[in-house]
Amino acid sequence: MGNNMVDIIQKKKDGEALSPEEIRFFVEGYTAGDIPDYQASALLMAICFRGMDRQETFLLTEAMRLSGDMADLSAIKGVKVDKHSTGGVGDKTTLIAGPLAAACGVPVAKMSGRGLGFTGGTVDKLEAIPGFRTTLEAREFVELVNRRGISLIGQTAHIAPADKKLYALRDVTATVMEPSLIAASIMSKKLASGSDAIVLDVKCGRGSFNATEKDAERLALLLRDLGQDGGKRTMALVTDMEQPLGRAVGNSLEVIEAIETLKGRGPEDITELSLVLAGYMVYAGGRGETPEEGRRRAEEALRSGAGLEKLGQLIEGQGGDPGVLEDYSLFPRPVCKAEARAEKKGFVQGIDARAAGAASQHAGAGRKAKGDAIDLAAGLLLGAKTGEPVEKGDLLVTAWAATEEKAEEAAAKGAAAYVIGPEPPVLRPLVHSVVL
Ligand code: URA
Repeated sequence: MGNNMVDIIQKKKDGEALSPEEIRFFVEGYTAGDIPDYQASALLMAICFRGMDRQETFLLTEAMRLSGDMADLSAIKGVKVDKHSTGGVGDKTTLIAGPLAAACGVPVAKMSGRGLGFTGGTVDKLEAIPGFRTTLEAREFVELVNRRGISLIGQTAHIAPADKKLYALRDVTATVMEPSLIAASIMSKKLASGSDAIVLDVKCGRGSFNATEKDAERLALLLRDLGQDGGKRTMALVTDMEQPLGRAVGNSLEVIEAIETLKGRGPEDITELSLVLAGYMVYAGGRGETPEEGRRRAEEALRSGAGLEKLGQLIEGQGGDPGVLEDYSLFPRPVCKAEARAEKKGFVQGIDARAAGAASQHAGAGRKAKGDAIDLAAGLLLGAKTGEPVEKGDLLVTAWAATEEKAEEAAAKGAAAYVIGPEPPVLRPLVHSVVL
């Protein structure tokens, strides 16, 4: 078959595997602007219906990776470890696990994303810290990791530009949720961004792309295989995203919760998941013989305050005010506050993470479309988590927003995410499985 877009679409529509040339032709042509959106959309939809096999997914990932620059981090000493989450609500683990792993001697050089829709993103959270720069020259990024052990920046435009274009198209053509497309999107960026090892946090549950554990496990295996094929030590954990992580959802609120966690006062789920992830990062970086040993070292870095100190160094290194570690009033100040309370007594059966994320987005913490401005002070604090008992009238949600009306609506939406029932629920595990 020749490299004709109509033939390529037809071939995938008929359920056949695309050849390496056809996949390259599509990715290169679409990135260059030679293939129009309507043909790319048709192919993406055919892929959603027919899927891609392992080899096609690998080739798609490679073609997307090669669409831009490769970050050169070879000047950083040691085994550089990246951590990536498939996206969730209240997930501030990068701000905790990153500094903990760095405190254990693992160089952390990470490019992060922004939030979209109901999910949050690390770059937005970092920008809640006054003065913090998330755009650095490559040289400065490398220097910071060598001097301070950690740097977190936004994705540069030159890394996997094919993904930028394709992701925007998938977003508006209902073609985001196909595993091969998700895997190629994530791994093309990760393989281009220069680290030696990658720890992936694949979410499952209502606040993620993977509703079921089986879907998440399949994606975790695919991501791990693509990483290994690309020559990086890659491991993936399937973790729970049924309820928001921690109690804070919204940018400055989440940074404050991350700081509290590094002070040893964080919510149980966030503390636990951060220690698990940091343990795997330490293991992947060769600073622990096993993930368990990695975790023990991360626990020590938490207990001793070395992790908190590392966060301070990260903030200072990127122009932020490290005073925020002790004085939370330095964060953007919320304007209006509203509360929502439990209407009956019982046990929290669950908190729909997607609905809670949408409530925080409504408060102003998230974007409806790429490029929208966000309110860094806006968001929610959850008064109770799944499994906890509540009395009628207990505080469920405190919401902050720019106007009274928005704060009240966000609090009501946040409270509507709760299900309260008479019996204590069976709790889901925080870590469902690990793919090494
Ligand atoms: N994150 C990505 O970067 N891409 C996807 O397709 C899904 C999640």
